Amino acid sequence: MSEKVKLTYKDKEYEFPLLEGAEEEKGIDIKTLRAQTGLVTYDPGYKNTGSCKSEITFLDGEEGILRYRGYSIEDLCEKASFLEVAYLLIFGNLPTAKELALLNIEIRKESLVDEDLKSILKSFPKSAHPMGVLSSLTSGLIAFNPSSVDIASESDLREAIIMLLAKFPILSSWTHRKVKGLPLNYANTSLSYEDNIAHMLFKLPHQDYEASPVVVSALNKLLILHADHEQNCSTSTVRIVGSSHAGLFASVSAGISALWGPLHGGANQAVIEMLEAIKADGGDTKKYMQKAKDKNDPFRLMGFGHRVYKNFDPRARIIKKAADEVLNELGINDPVLDIAKGLEKEALSDPYFIDRKLYPNVDFYSGIIYRALGIPTEMFTVMFALGRLPGWIAQWSEMRKNNEPIGRPRQIYTGENHRTI
Ligand code: ACO
Repeated sequence: MSEKVKLTYKDKEYEFPLLEGAEEEKGIDIKTLRAQTGLVTYDPGYKNTGSCKSEITFLDGEEGILRYRGYSIEDLCEKASFLEVAYLLIFGNLPTAKELALLNIEIRKESLVDEDLKSILKSFPKSAHPMGVLSSLTSGLIAFNPSSVDIASESDLREAIIMLLAKFPILSSWTHRKVKGLPLNYANTSLSYEDNIAHMLFKLPHQDYEASPVVVSALNKLLILHADHEQNCSTSTVRIVGSSHAGLFASVSAGISALWGPLHGGANQAVIEMLEAIKADGGDTKKYMQKAKDKNDPFRLMGFGHRVYKNFDPRARIIKKAADEVLNELGINDPVLDIAKGLEKEALSDPYFIDRKLYPNVDFYSGIIYRALGIPTEMFTVMFALGRLPGWIAQWSEMRKNNEPIGRPRQIYTGENHRTI
């Protein structure tokens, strides 16, 4: 008989099955808790709640492990392209050469958006945050591509996935070009998916553009490292919105809004803003190290520490190397980046940070690369969204294919008892 977990309540004993995942992580199956006991659970922030079973991403925060469909991110960053990783996440296996070629053909066919979407973009002020614009444009896609996905139809689902993979980079680049006052680019179908992202962001109308291999390689790694992170805030949002059978584009649009917040994808922007503030204050890194350690000071060193990774963030190791390569290749000499290096050096040898296992996280270095590439700070979270898209699609599809019930948590009511007027 499989293992059970016992709960005693009012002298009565209840048993609940113990679930075991593929990597031996264990959980209590409480599906029948309320029916058996009348109780619900209370878990703010879902810190102890497994919201689903998933075959997509495995993460071990203690050991610093992150794997997509069983492959380590170290291996994937070394040997795969972002599009191959997107295929892996969404369809379950790395594509064969033939499957990848077909995917490229399908994406090229869909690499256009209705010109009327430009009027939606035009109506935003230049000062609008690109994440708000991107969420709106992604919602706007629904109006121009109105077919809803019949989840039972493989071809329907594939069509929606291809459309989103093809059109999302175009919309993302448009949010950047709008801020910069540049003409809106389309994909160049002779380029790879990753090259096209650089091309659509950076190609100027009056100049040829050829992305440096170091830049494309760093972008490729950044996109892969952000591609999925199991049940994080934006992914859980995508799944819960989709659980009401809202469509893929609508669910992803909601995910973009969730990612926007500074406690989630917005942290990469916060890192650069912190570095700018330190520079404006004279660049004294020691002063800010003291502030970070002072318990009476709310200041925290942004880009350090992680809720899940308590040893090191495996993504940060990879991206630090890429950041060094990009800075060398581009010959960047930026005082803000010197401040970043100074903080990093001091924090890594400071007992406060060592004792608390506070290491630079992926956001510390990703902001540095984006800045070196000339991407405006408020675009950083859009770059994150570009990377996270395959994860959102994969998680949405898995949720629908598993026919998961609508997400609808309970609560502990703490308001007034019955009152009369
Ligand atoms: N600077 C200074 N001290 C810190 C920092 C920091 N960045 N992070 C944690 N600490 C200290 C805390 O004050 C606490 O000290 P104490 O034990 O003396 O009280 C100890 O380290 C543990 O911190 P917690 O807040 O309990 O750690 P938690 O896991 O809850 O927080 C978090 C993780 C939110 C990421 C935190 O480290 C932080 O705020 N970092 C800065 C923001 C950031 O970079 N966020 C991006 C994360 S990556 C991502 O989301 C993609």
